[in-house]
Amino acid sequence: MPSHEQEMRELLCELAGSLFARGFSVGSAGNISVRLTDGYLMTPTNSSLGRLDPGRLSKLDPAFQHVAGDKPSKEVFMHRAFYQARDDASAVVHLHSTQATAVSCLPDVDQSNPIPPLTPYFVMRVGRRMPIIPYYRPGDATMEPAINAAARNARAVLLANHGPVVSGQTLTDAVHAAEELEEAAKLFLLLRGHSPRLLTMPQVDDLLTTFG
Ligand code: 13P
Repeated sequence: MPSHEQEMRELLCELAGSLFARGFSVGSAGNISVRLTDGYLMTPTNSSLGRLDPGRLSKLDPAFQHVAGDKPSKEVFMHRAFYQARDDASAVVHLHSTQATAVSCLPDVDQSNPIPPLTPYFVMRVGRRMPIIPYYRPGDATMEPAINAAARNARAVLLANHGPVVSGQTLTDAVHAAEELEEAAKLFLLLRGHSPRLLTMPQVDDLLTTFG
């Protein structure tokens, strides 16, 4: 096995374990994938992010067919939607983290971009917009076109009444973005009913120009 793949297997399990230990994921919720030179690594279905075995991760070929390891997440198509929509996506993290999922349950927020630019790190890691995708049952492959269309203009989406899906240029970037998203959702909920000062459009542009 190439040393890069071994490194990715270990990093994925380490980062997933850290997310689980800090409550970003409970039970067997959530799934993570990372792009390799010859395909993808993905968390197995029904596995706990807190107890992954690097040697048992699912391996998919470039066409997303299962070629080795345990049976992959039932959300393979959700990950595929991001990789196919975004050339810059090298990893995808899906969580049921509480506050982002809470925002995904709110019918009275802007479904095209519910969380405004409250802090620089939310803008830097998640970007300018993050839409809510209408509800589909977990594992329902018919949601793929909706995610693919949204991901063309967004690094992350919220699945209504389900949770966030976040992409990144590296596995570490995707995990950091998922963490920033959860914090931004917490601030957004804390500030509901208040009139917070938001970052201005020039401030958002400046962040994206400076930090990408
Ligand atoms: P899997 O165990 O199949 O990855 O599904 C978990 C999940 O989070 C569904 O949304």
